[in-house]
Amino acid sequence: MTETRRRSWAEPYKIKMVEPIRMTTRAEREQAIAEAGYNTFLLKSEDVYIDLLTDSGTSAMSDRQWAGMMLGDESYAGSRNFYHLEAAVREIYGYKHLVPTHQGRGAEHILSQITTKPGDVVPGNMYFTTTRLHQELAGGAFVDVIIDEAHDPASEHPFKGNVDLDKLQRVIDENGPEKIPYVCIATAVNMAGGQPISLANLKAVRALCDAHGVRIIHDATRVAENAYFIKEREPGYGDKSIAEIVREICDLTDGCTMSAKKDALVNIGGFLALNDEELFDAARNTVVVYEGLHTYGGMAGRDMEAVAIGLHESVEYEHIKARVGQVLYLGTKLQEFGVPIIVPIGGHGVFLDAKAFLPQLDQDVYPAQALTAEIYLEGGVRTMERGNVSSGRDPKTGENRRPKLEMVRVTIPRRVYTQAHMDVTAETIAEVYDRRASIKGLRMVYEPKVLRFFQAMFEPL
Ligand code: F0G
Repeated sequence: MTETRRRSWAEPYKIKMVEPIRMTTRAEREQAIAEAGYNTFLLKSEDVYIDLLTDSGTSAMSDRQWAGMMLGDESYAGSRNFYHLEAAVREIYGYKHLVPTHQGRGAEHILSQITTKPGDVVPGNMYFTTTRLHQELAGGAFVDVIIDEAHDPASEHPFKGNVDLDKLQRVIDENGPEKIPYVCIATAVNMAGGQPISLANLKAVRALCDAHGVRIIHDATRVAENAYFIKEREPGYGDKSIAEIVREICDLTDGCTMSAKKDALVNIGGFLALNDEELFDAARNTVVVYEGLHTYGGMAGRDMEAVAIGLHESVEYEHIKARVGQVLYLGTKLQEFGVPIIVPIGGHGVFLDAKAFLPQLDQDVYPAQALTAEIYLEGGVRTMERGNVSSGRDPKTGENRRPKLEMVRVTIPRRVYTQAHMDVTAETIAEVYDRRASIKGLRMVYEPKVLRFFQAMFEPL
């Protein structure tokens, strides 16, 4: 009997401070979502009950991080917290040089400005919205070289973040290595559903890039989550620590852009880290134009201290196991209710397959966007569209890109919500699933020029 009894695990922390949240009425939510133009980015957070819009900047900091905040050295130049952060980046990631920025897109901007010229191409394992925009603003074009399985919601491939080496080889052959400022490799690929890349694949990418003298820049935003999946799934890594795996990933790349608002467990911050001296010199010179002096780059000293501590916490096994475990818990519940989700369940959220959820809707009436509005109406749960709206228009044709993956991201902030919140979320989505046949699409009535998903407005059809 005792052999078969379930042994639960629990979060490796207890709660020291709470922030009240409030459930709204259906009538209040109807008004709020209409005023927000059916865009969850335009809702006021006080009108949201459980906020699963993003895992970005929404983490609960630890008591150690809050203690670190009190040790901020707010000097304009040479703050002690910068040196702490530099030491943490060197120790955990192994990159030589640090250029702090206010958040991830600040690092992407600097990197694109110093590496990319008109006519260049940047291959990568699936686009990310801000990353691709900065590549395009610098005159480059993003080329997707992720494996085909990543675009298939039902493929159970354990490493859907892998690069298709033939696709990468073709981009290099067709354009020449001199047109490729770098290959952009994301870990725990966000737009694929938080899917990992394997170390075996990354080693092969490294060998191919070395053969052509091409750099690899790592989007390290969720590298610890990727490392956890490698430990769980990749032969030979079961006994390695998360820190060792993170280091091995970083050692195969030439630098990184980082949104510290995710893995590093802070509410604001980011950086660019580089091994190459010349590139570092250019980055250090450019950061002063757009972000701030090279020893703070848009962050307060106290924020740099919190990032430094958060980086250490991000690679603690008990932390990352509970973090990814909570996502798995929610995803498994949704599967039990029959809700179609992207598999395998990813690292930072559960991604609903909106095409399978709402097969009656064409992609140009924005099924994922409509679904985010319905989930909010049902139970005050805020999620995010990751489909045709996020993907935007092709700059050449002006048409909607109509990506293969039409998804709603149910994103889990780190250390913020309990298992009960996950239960309520799953039940809310299951209710919407039960009445899916009656759900209609949306028409876009206001469309911003860039990154339209943040501010676009819609009307029900
Ligand atoms: N790279 C990845 C993989 C990201 O997920 C993000 C942000 C960025 C770069 C940009 O970083 O926001 O600090 O400027 N992702 C957030 C999200 C916005 O909700 O997924 P940032």
